[in-house]
Amino acid sequence: MFDSSEARKVFENVLDHDALMNLIKLQERDVLNRIYGTVESGKESLVFLADSPERGRILLKIYMNRAGGFRDLERYLRGDRRFRNFKSDRRSVIREWCKKEFKNLKKAQNVLNCPEAIAFQKNVLVMEFMGRDFSAFPKLKQVEIENPDRALDVVLDDIGSLWSQEELVHGDLSEYNILVTDDEDLVWIDFSQGVHVSHPEAEDLLRRDVENVVRYFSEQGAEADVQKAFESIISG
Ligand SMILES: Nc1ncnc2c1ncn2[C@@H]1O[C@H](COP(=O)(O)OP(=O)(O)OP(=O)(O)O)[C@@H](O)[C@H]1O
Ligand SMILES: [Mg+2]
Repeated sequence: MFDSSEARKVFENVLDHDALMNLIKLQERDVLNRIYGTVESGKESLVFLADSPERGRILLKIYMNRAGGFRDLERYLRGDRRFRNFKSDRRSVIREWCKKEFKNLKKAQNVLNCPEAIAFQKNVLVMEFMGRDFSAFPKLKQVEIENPDRALDVVLDDIGSLWSQEELVHGDLSEYNILVTDDEDLVWIDFSQGVHVSHPEAEDLLRRDVENVVRYFSEQGAEADVQKAFESIISG
């Protein structure tokens, strides 16, 4: 299953028995047949490039069963009416968190550009790989956008469609969680924090997402008013 000794080493040193079993399960389900190296390791996850027999190149996001911070995850989950029936132990919370990102991606792909959600197996999420060959598309933070005004309009529109049509807020939107394709299309990633609009913190998260993108694109020369953009999204 492992394509390189580097990948195998990371797996043996970082991942626990549970994660390994889930990968084997995915292999049995025909979702996965080869794992390359890591793309990047985030705060709560390890991200690997892999191949699927039917889907070609895919991305594995493996949520780690590690200490710290998981009470916050639980708070985001409990407030979301879609995710209330799960146990409070660390492992259950992390599995629910992974399922949440899967479901959020499924909804988001109806209205905006994001990786297609393919499968999940406990704490392992499988999605479409957004990149070329073996390289992920760069993050917005790393590239210079030719037309920041247009890009900001598109992002604000997408925030609005996600809110009003899919009743979802991304919750962690910034120049670090948006990738840019060769054609300057923007691809949103990292939906694990996304919550239903009825969540007690949904509007705060929405405001923060709007602030983040307006701030970023303003630095590139675009113009928009945070309050106006926020109100127009809320009022649909
Ligand atoms: N579908 C994808 N295709 C290509 N690259 C991806 C994809 N998803 C994630 N990446 C790359 O992996 C990095 C980490 O992924 P992501 O942002 O989802 O995790 P994270 O920051 O660890 O999330 P969290 O905040 O939940 O810990 C991204 O910044 C991006 O470079
Ligand atoms: Mg991220």
